[in-house]
Amino acid sequence: MSSSSQPKCLVRGSINIDEFFALPHIVRPGETISSTSLTKRAGGKGANQAYAVARAGGQVDLDGCIGKDGEWVRDFLKSGGVGDTRLITLDNELTGRAIIQSAADGENSIVLHAGANYHLPSPLPNPDLKDYTHILLQNEIPLQSTLSYLKASKQEGLISVFNPSPMLSQKELREFPWECLSWLIVNEGELFDLLDAFQQDPTTTKTKKSNSLDELSLEELKARSTGGILNLHSNSYFSKNINIICTLGSKGILYFNPTSGSKEIGHLPAGKLLNPLKDTTGAGDCFAGYFVAGLMRGDKLEDVLKTCLMACAICVENQGAMESVPSRDSVLSRL
Ligand code: ADP
Ligand code: NA
Repeated sequence: MSSSSQPKCLVRGSINIDEFFALPHIVRPGETISSTSLTKRAGGKGANQAYAVARAGGQVDLDGCIGKDGEWVRDFLKSGGVGDTRLITLDNELTGRAIIQSAADGENSIVLHAGANYHLPSPLPNPDLKDYTHILLQNEIPLQSTLSYLKASKQEGLISVFNPSPMLSQKELREFPWECLSWLIVNEGELFDLLDAFQQDPTTTKTKKSNSLDELSLEELKARSTGGILNLHSNSYFSKNINIICTLGSKGILYFNPTSGSKEIGHLPAGKLLNPLKDTTGAGDCFAGYFVAGLMRGDKLEDVLKTCLMACAICVENQGAMESVPSRDSVLSRL
């Protein structure tokens, strides 16, 4: 762990170029249509979350790979305060890319190319984490690499935060080294995907998740997700030393912090919107980045979470994944 007094986070994860094609409708098989506009933005969950840590005032480096076509993404991240000394430009790979068809009726359709994100040096080096106090991981790079960083972070005594998105396979979830993890951040769907993977008797699964978030009252949703968190915590595949945050979209979050000795599961409502809901893309990434930055400051957990929720409220009032992540000052002025 870092010997200096300043906390510092490493985000090991993905970097993408997101290309948004505005279309009258999603292209049908065999059809060619012209887009009304093309917008290019930096994206990828690793980059989004690193950017959010920096916007929240945390010191952060992003560890990942791009191709030569992604140098502008590096510049964009640097100008947002993300350290790029761990960012590698590969000669023979393209930067990860998302081709997003955005139809007039609001429907989306996405083609993903992992590109440089899936580069794996051989043999896999042991990650050097001595400059860091915190690590933030997602699942848009080879799992093998994520696991090597998580295991090294445990050995080095870092605080680790994992956002399993996109979700791992059931086998991967059962074999995951949960004992290495400090904090898990999931949304409601991911919480029950995890439980399904850990469930021994498949006939008893899939019953709890039949309704969507919007159809349930807050009390029903809280009861269902609280049950899910307690189940997860006591499951033999999982570890009792993991703290859990479950995000509930417009209904806020549930949080469980057993390593503090607390047995309570708390709920906090979403931050109040002052403007119409515009774009929820990247809200989960905004939450994760602000959360780690809050842990790094050493603030009280509830204060950290309230700051995250207000950051997310501003994020969903604005367009884009990174562009909509507010500065810490603008979050504080809304609290
Ligand atoms: P994910 O995008 O990972 O599924 P969520 O949809 O749960 O994550 O959103 C993360 C956070 O963003 C929520 O906890 C909430 O604070 C905020 N948020 C998301 N959608 C809304 C919304 N419609 N209104 C207000 N806040 C929202
Ligand atoms: Na947004």
